[in-house]
Amino acid sequence: MSMKYLIGIDIGTSATKSALFDTEGNLIRSASAEYPMMQPEIGWAEENPEDFWRATCKTLREITDGFDGEIVGIGLSGQMHSLVMLDERDEVIRPAILWCDQRTAKECEELTAIIGNDELVRISGNTAMPAFTASKLMWVRNNEPENFKRCKHVLLAKDYVRFKLTGEYVIDVSDASGMQLMDIKTKKYSKELSDAVGIDEKCLPRIMESYEVSGRVTDEAAALTGVKAGTVVAAGAGDNAAAAVGTGVVSVGDAFTTIGTSGVVFIPTESPICDRDGRFNCFCDATGSWHVLGITQAAGLSMNWFRSSFAKNLSYREIDEGAAAVPVGSEKLVYLPYLMGERTPILDSSARGVFFGLSAVHTSAHLARAVMEGVSYSLYSCLEAISASGIEIKEMSLCGGGAKSPLWHGMLSDVYGIPVKTMISTESASLGAAILGGCAAGVYSSVAEGSEICVRANVPLTPNAENHEKYMKLYSIYKELYPVLKDSFRELNNI
Ligand code: XUL
Repeated sequence: MSMKYLIGIDIGTSATKSALFDTEGNLIRSASAEYPMMQPEIGWAEENPEDFWRATCKTLREITDGFDGEIVGIGLSGQMHSLVMLDERDEVIRPAILWCDQRTAKECEELTAIIGNDELVRISGNTAMPAFTASKLMWVRNNEPENFKRCKHVLLAKDYVRFKLTGEYVIDVSDASGMQLMDIKTKKYSKELSDAVGIDEKCLPRIMESYEVSGRVTDEAAALTGVKAGTVVAAGAGDNAAAAVGTGVVSVGDAFTTIGTSGVVFIPTESPICDRDGRFNCFCDATGSWHVLGITQAAGLSMNWFRSSFAKNLSYREIDEGAAAVPVGSEKLVYLPYLMGERTPILDSSARGVFFGLSAVHTSAHLARAVMEGVSYSLYSCLEAISASGIEIKEMSLCGGGAKSPLWHGMLSDVYGIPVKTMISTESASLGAAILGGCAAGVYSSVAEGSEICVRANVPLTPNAENHEKYMKLYSIYKELYPVLKDSFRELNNI
């Protein structure tokens, strides 16, 4: 039997990554292309959807160039929630409003006032949050009525790429649940929610399970990408649900953390588990089930910001080595990672980043370590909020760019106080997407089977009890800071 191959495309916040795998999950080729994130105002974040497609074409051409193996399926993964609007000629109307954009606090209040918090949680699985697509649509309606009127198709980042690849307007269940326009139990659009937002259901993409066939590569897209026309494209998943598949987190009892632009704690559940106070999110997963998710808005984004502001000439590896030489706890320096507001367990679009405890002994290496520690505390607070709902986790998988840092890996295990393991294939979202492509193409009979065949983990790192104790002392300070600063954040924002 000739060998078959799969492609996973992850339309991330900092870049699009395309990766070619064999059907056993071995990485054959990969390519990545970055694009700029625009911040026209504090707390706003936009990108050009055309950049998603350009980066997809470029990276696909790179991985298919001169490759003559049989590529049987493609899967898509992408930043969740980010709003792309198309007009009747399928032209992009305005830049995408990203998941980390915080401009819609008012619209969230409006949505909650119309539906009521408990009803909103009952239907959508979540309280209103600026991250979700519904409030972004309301913002465009309230502030750019002309753009809203012109809108004929609402898509998320990866679904825009799918449209360019296949001509289909489709979304998968995980991303559909992140729009806050869908009933989390029935997986159908809710009339109550679309009416509240004022969007015609006809403008919303068709909802499919992640592993289903959403379309096939068109002749036009084939010419631009080097992928054969007719290749199957799976519905795919939001980047977190895709990374779950790519880390083998496909059943209850599993869990993973990702440190990408955002940081996420992801835990599968048998049914929707929702928090009416919004301390964690509930979305559909890629296996047909659900999960809970805690998120740190600015995880890798904090590190990226630190490097471009204070350590431009250093590689991440050099920053890591410098930070590793600083003692546990960064000599009493605590960082709050609220560069893009915060979402869980604290929901506050006015929150901002803080270095607390700065003294003259601190160097830029201390700041780097404090950034990593602050993000770790924030992820721990997500885990703590989820655990409080009765979900217990004994071991954690780790993926995303942050997983490449040995310091961050060990630190997370020490802060969490449980073993943390990284994956052999670090491109977890692309691998997960490729596995979903394999399901759609009939290579695997289920997502769990694909994941079982393709995902391999490294030996877990066990926590150091002494470090855990030290970190917990600083964590209690970390936790005390937000309530104290809350009103000041608001005042600052109102100046
Ligand atoms: C999840 C979320 C982020 C983005 C990052 O709800 O908003 O993790 O998916 O790409």
